[in-house]
Amino acid sequence: MTDEIMEQFPLLKQKQDGKRLVYLDSGATTQRPQAVLDAANQFYLEQNANPHRGVYTLGETATEVYEKARGTVAKFLNAKPEEVIFTRNATESLNLIAYSWGMSNLHAGDRVVISILEHHSTLVPWQQVCRATGATLEYLYTDQSGVIPDVEIEKKLTKGVKLVALTHVSNVLGLLSPVQKVFARAHEIGAVTVLDAAQSAPHLKLDMQKLDADFLVFSGHKLYAPLGIGVLWAKTELLEAMPPFLTGGDMIETVREQDATWAPLPEKFEAGTQNAGGAVGLAAAIDWMNSLGFETIQKREDRVYRYAWERLSSLEHITVYGTPEGQHYGAIAFNLDEVHPHDVATVLDADAVCIRAGHHCAQPLLRHLGLSSCCRASFAVYNTTDDVDALAEGLLKVRRWLGYGA
Ligand SMILES: Cc1ncc(COP(=O)(O)O)c(C=O)c1O
Repeated sequence: MTDEIMEQFPLLKQKQDGKRLVYLDSGATTQRPQAVLDAANQFYLEQNANPHRGVYTLGETATEVYEKARGTVAKFLNAKPEEVIFTRNATESLNLIAYSWGMSNLHAGDRVVISILEHHSTLVPWQQVCRATGATLEYLYTDQSGVIPDVEIEKKLTKGVKLVALTHVSNVLGLLSPVQKVFARAHEIGAVTVLDAAQSAPHLKLDMQKLDADFLVFSGHKLYAPLGIGVLWAKTELLEAMPPFLTGGDMIETVREQDATWAPLPEKFEAGTQNAGGAVGLAAAIDWMNSLGFETIQKREDRVYRYAWERLSSLEHITVYGTPEGQHYGAIAFNLDEVHPHDVATVLDADAVCIRAGHHCAQPLLRHLGLSSCCRASFAVYNTTDDVDALAEGLLKVRRWLGYGA
């Protein structure tokens, strides 16, 4: 079996114990196409210096490619370059919002509303900041299939809510959240909105002129870019009013013995030496995705997702969580009767099938669904229905291997 997209990913050609590697953990991190590896390599081979420091030619080249990468991200988001802040990952971006915006805007009695679908990277920073400011943290709960009902939005988004944070796509169930409804209501009541696009940016076009979000975050490594580069986007007026999150070199204008003034956007939020090689790799990943086009990406991924839903839900002893209704991107969660998810993942690994097992950094969601852990297969554009077949065939073996019979 050869697939022209999969062929561009050197790691996916690797064998594990002589078996074809079936990588179904792209929700954790994707693999990288050759074009991204080449761009990151070229940065270190030919362009590496500390951006925004050296006035020599190489230093200027490093600054140029770093800022060009910001321009590529801005175009990808249909946003202004100065509104794009490079961070390490979505987690750092979410902490930046919580600590910088949250600590200076929240007061005792204010309400922060997030959904029960959130990743710990949204959940824990808001827990910390609410505790420090005296604000309360409240949840939009889903039904058993992972859908946030309209009545929940109306009931929870009322006066006193200062900020609403929502995951665009659930990292466990792969289901698209009702962003338009939630954010329209949030804005009606004067709340600021945060969209966690960690699981949507690899799969669907993000347009900041249409999304109605005030803040948006994502990680490069989940969309074919190197590890260690992430993005925070926010509206200029919010960023200008916020204090810096990290302080130090490169984010200042003037420093005196007892105080300092800040550089303009975006440098105000980029303290210290930045991951320029990662930014260049991220720009290459975006160029690579654009060369495929979101139509192709979605068509392929949708086919694989639908096939996975049908194939897994037709197997005996398997419970697939969520609903096939609504739009899904990239993830399917399930459990096998009587078998712990870690055992499922370990047996599948013997066939070189990589899935994730555990709480997926969403313990409150799992608890809400009555689970302590589950298996998750997650897809990227390089996956095919052959990968789903390999997963299904592996799953058929698991209970037998562990002595439960067919
Ligand atoms: C929905 C969601 N938000 C945030 C994150 C955190 O991403 P990172 O670990 O790259 O910071 C993840 C990671 O899986 C995620 O799925």
